[in-house]
Amino acid sequence: MTNALPQVYRGSAVGKVILLGEHAVVYGSRAIVVGLDRGAEAEVRAASVAELLLGAERHRLEQTPSAAELPAARAFRALLATLGAGNVAAQVRLGIPAGAGLGASAAIGVALARAVTGLLGARGLPQPAVAGAALAWENVFHGNASGVDTAAAEHAGCLSFRRGELPQKLSPARPLELVVALVESGASTRRMVEGVAQRRSAEPARMDALLDGIAALVARAQPCLERGDQLELGQLMTQNHELLVQLGVSTPKLDRAVRSALDSGALGAKLTGAGGGGCALALVEKGCRSNVLQTWRSSGLECWEKRAD
Ligand code: MEV
Repeated sequence: MTNALPQVYRGSAVGKVILLGEHAVVYGSRAIVVGLDRGAEAEVRAASVAELLLGAERHRLEQTPSAAELPAARAFRALLATLGAGNVAAQVRLGIPAGAGLGASAAIGVALARAVTGLLGARGLPQPAVAGAALAWENVFHGNASGVDTAAAEHAGCLSFRRGELPQKLSPARPLELVVALVESGASTRRMVEGVAQRRSAEPARMDALLDGIAALVARAQPCLERGDQLELGQLMTQNHELLVQLGVSTPKLDRAVRSALDSGALGAKLTGAGGGGCALALVEKGCRSNVLQTWRSSGLECWEKRAD
């Protein structure tokens, strides 16, 4: 008699920063997104009860869903159902901060979906697309996710994304030197997206003009990126921040971080992600990268660098 432990299957996926286009992308406009070097790693194995270990939180899925089920458990249930997987025990490790606009939940969803499809494939079962399962996971947290975060988590690199379409890979003519700072803990993406939707119902003309303005910046940014005009790309990012301020999703701390990056020589700076807190992003030239890093670090901000080519 053998007593072998069930085989472990692994999946990983990356976090993201949005260069331009957050919030407008929810309403069908394009966004430009860059995958980070880190994200989430998942391990799964067949089990008698479905269970998700997320950091220190353990979510055990009962046979019948209850109203008291937490979002992570509901999201895991939705992911397993979309993949047609039975009971699976999963464990996730996160390499980026959660709730900071860096696409942590999408990275977890894609990493889990990849690991579970690996398990299904080993059993000779059909392996449905990772994207649909990751979006089912993501929608439990975000309600009306455009899919930009899950696309970045799945494909990495630099992408042009529009809701409902396959993402297009972009090739920057010159590598993008980016600096990211964790400015403050973020608000929930669901709450920020709902806030924009409520303001849009109350003031449709003003909000639609802002969303159209963001879409126009994205349309101008894509050719800048492809011909290596980073001066203009940076200016477009800063203009995008100003429109996000008017949309009501920035905070005084994010505005201060953007201003100090620009004063330190960044080509452009903005909040990245849903806002209400979270991270600021700066496009820099090699020469001013250390200035921006020093400015942000001396204000106590945790920073990362990312080179995208
Ligand atoms: C969040 O990273 C980006 C938002 O546009 C929401 C979404 O597109 O799902 C705020």
